Amino acid sequence: MEQNILARIAAVIQSSSVQGWLVVDRDFKVVHANEAYCQLWKTKSEEVIGKHILKLFFKGQKKDNRGNYLGPLIETIDTGREIALMEVCVTSQYNDANIWCLANTYLLRDSEGRIEYAVGTYLPIDKFKVIERRLDNINLDIIKAFCKAIGVRDAYTKQHSECVAYLMVELAEYLNLSPDEVTKAYLAGIVHDVGKIGVPERILGKPGRLSDEEFKIIKCHPVKGSEIIAEIDGLGAITSIVRHHHERYDGRGYPEGLAGENIPFLSRMLCICDAFDAMTSQRCYRDPYTTEQALEEIKRCAGLQFDPIISEQFITCMKKQLQRN
Ligand SMILES: [Fe+2]
Repeated sequence: MEQNILARIAAVIQSSSVQGWLVVDRDFKVVHANEAYCQLWKTKSEEVIGKHILKLFFKGQKKDNRGNYLGPLIETIDTGREIALMEVCVTSQYNDANIWCLANTYLLRDSEGRIEYAVGTYLPIDKFKVIERRLDNINLDIIKAFCKAIGVRDAYTKQHSECVAYLMVELAEYLNLSPDEVTKAYLAGIVHDVGKIGVPERILGKPGRLSDEEFKIIKCHPVKGSEIIAEIDGLGAITSIVRHHHERYDGRGYPEGLAGENIPFLSRMLCICDAFDAMTSQRCYRDPYTTEQALEEIKRCAGLQFDPIISEQFITCMKKQLQRN
């Protein structure tokens, strides 16, 4: 048993230059943390060694409000089950970071078979790749081809879609939505303006004010977009999100003038992320707002254009991200 344990520890240490590893005892107290682990969590080994991981990172909690373990090591010590190659998003309440990792855990037992230590390894992974892997029943190539088609006509829209998808995932995770909802948020961000494929280029790229007639044409894009999406297998769940992303909380938006909670929740999120990215992007006719100016504008429009509760959460989420960077 002794040899076996040593061999397992050696295997973990060998791969430690790229992946973080952490050893805790059965009382969740940190025994070792390597450099990669500390970089991942933006901490120092002297700040974690000897500390209790539940108290340090998870406010003393083992599980979130849906009953899921907050980290793979906690689950392993609690259940006695080792974890192999699990894609996890660990949310630390220590620095509010969401870290996507491929995690493994190993148990080290004493001569009587009792758990003595648990070792966790954490390899950081691209969270968008994780989300895309969940979409195996959806033809992502078709979706990307659509986005490319818009990009050919309007470089801003293509880049904008990716940025909005990124903001949607950040906000969805901050709101602690389920993995399914996070995936929908990502997809909705990518495709929300796909209906602009039917808008002439002279209108898409027009600097300054649009005429009433031009604005009428632009206003068709949420409905056109939802009709295009309805044709793609697996995207049924996001057609109404796209259709309503220009509704306003006060009911003065389009296409249907829905108000308040009659607007789908993810559309209310999308409306904020869309506006934030539009404000902070460079356009040919104006300089971008700073993040602070854009957040101030969202605050000003909360309850009018935007859902007031989601606006407040978006502002907090963005400010926390600013502090971390
Ligand atoms: Fe739009």
